[in-house]
Amino acid sequence: MVTTEGFASSVRVVDHPLVQHKLTLMRRADTSTASFRQLLREVAHLLAYETTRDLELELVDIQTPLSPMRAPVLAGKKLVFASILRAGEGLLEGMLDLVPSARVAHVGLYRDPTTLAAVEYYFKAPEDIAERRVIVLDPMLATAHSAIAAVDRLKEAGATDVSFVCVLAAPEGIDNLTGHHPDVAITTAAIDDGLDAHGFIVPGLGDAGDRMFGTK
Ligand code: PRP
Repeated sequence: MVTTEGFASSVRVVDHPLVQHKLTLMRRADTSTASFRQLLREVAHLLAYETTRDLELELVDIQTPLSPMRAPVLAGKKLVFASILRAGEGLLEGMLDLVPSARVAHVGLYRDPTTLAAVEYYFKAPEDIAERRVIVLDPMLATAHSAIAAVDRLKEAGATDVSFVCVLAAPEGIDNLTGHHPDVAITTAAIDDGLDAHGFIVPGLGDAGDRMFGTK
């Protein structure tokens, strides 16, 4: 994992070879819907591994088949995964594979194709979100309008400890999210060149939601 020059120290790029290889397969236009979905789930496992590496541990007494010992288990704040619909669902599946006891928030947002503004159509979060660590999930951080709207909404609901995990980020999106929410650390598999005239990340991988669900 590297912290990227030119960006805030709270931006981490997961440069693990498995992540980079799987991301290249996801980018390819000829990758099928089924493969794309499976690859996103696998990348989510690896991003979950990185983004949870600072979770607190405590020692408890257990008995192995051979002897008693004090062994580490997770302690501290419990997790909420906040999925930005639709494409966040692809990351959510993989994250839950690794942390099955996490609670889940859903933030339904779509980008207005003309203004690129994020429009909310659904929101549901755990009642005790203020006591939990919230990890917002969306494969794509383009203009960051969706990420900012989601974090705004989660903070309104009481969240105070929020981070953001994506697969691909545009430099513009990183600057925008960091500008609005400097407390939100960003983890991504790659930072691409920028945005095209339609607000798509280039070279990118296309529209993650459409590629996951085969809607285009
Ligand atoms: C895409 C993508 C992100 C958002 C990123 O979603 O999945 O949620 O755009 O763009 P932004 O950073 O410029 O806001 P879209 O609105 O296409 O909805 P979908 O996931 O339902 O396809």
